[in-house]
Amino acid sequence: MGQEPETSGQLTANGELRHLLTLEGLDQSLILNLLDLSQAYLRPIGQIPARDDLLAGRTVANLFFEASTRTRASFELAAKRMSADVLNLDVNTSSRIKGESILDTIYTLQAMQADIFVIRDASAGIPAMIASKVQPHISVLNAGEADISHPTQGLLDLLTIRQFKGEFENLVVTIIGDIKHSRVARSTAQGLHTMGIKSLHLVTPPGLEPNQDHYPNAVITNDIDAGIEGADVVMALRIQRERIANPSNLMDQVEYLKNFGLTKKRMQLAHPDAIVMHPGPMNRDVEIASEVADGPQSVITTQVANGLAVRMAIFAAISAARPIS
Ligand code: CP
Repeated sequence: MGQEPETSGQLTANGELRHLLTLEGLDQSLILNLLDLSQAYLRPIGQIPARDDLLAGRTVANLFFEASTRTRASFELAAKRMSADVLNLDVNTSSRIKGESILDTIYTLQAMQADIFVIRDASAGIPAMIASKVQPHISVLNAGEADISHPTQGLLDLLTIRQFKGEFENLVVTIIGDIKHSRVARSTAQGLHTMGIKSLHLVTPPGLEPNQDHYPNAVITNDIDAGIEGADVVMALRIQRERIANPSNLMDQVEYLKNFGLTKKRMQLAHPDAIVMHPGPMNRDVEIASEVADGPQSVITTQVANGLAVRMAIFAAISAARPIS
């Protein structure tokens, strides 16, 4: 399919991954390679996790200026399982609260020979800005950027969908919730578009519709039943209260579940073999009924397991692109 060339500067001249800033513009073959590499790092629960020494001698700095459980823990475990030295900056006791800029924080850690920065920040453009300023041997990995981008989440969602559904091209995917403020929806939709799915339905409460320019091929609707009808994949998202100026104006949680929650009854509208996804953190019995989150169609814990493998694969890919001497 026709795709715009990658323009964000995240690839080397040879087309290999140096930074991971966005899925936008990454071509299908590169994404497939990353999914295959991720799959190779997966081990069944209960077995010893995969390990290798590709990051031996390298230092990974995790800088999470927004809350995280899954992304932060899996980047840390992935780095350790690849033999890196790992620094988890405690942002609450870092000098950023004394007014130090994020770039000065980066330059400080760069001087200590940190060479992979994993960054989550509430402001748009931070990962790309840092990538443009660091020394040439350094890689920047976007672990969540405002409402713009969450590329490793997009990849783990693609990996999960491929494991359960195989080929992408005939799939109907429905994402329900606060699409307007969701970086997960943006990155997952970019990846699904590149992989050539049949159709993407975005279901939102009124007022939380995204900019159609960010989802050029999606059907955007407030009709949840129509949006779920015949879907192969149904993903629920939470309301991103931290990005909404007046969250008190939102409908209450009981009303939300009734009108926009992913319930067992609504899931009967989807394809009988449909899978249920949620990136987490979940608000049970708000955007998703507990019995659906824990039900037989749920693949939510598989998404979490895949997240660790994807982050190992990204570390491996950037190591291959820029071997340390
Ligand atoms: N899905 C996700 O990004 O979860 P965390 O905020 O817990 O990292």
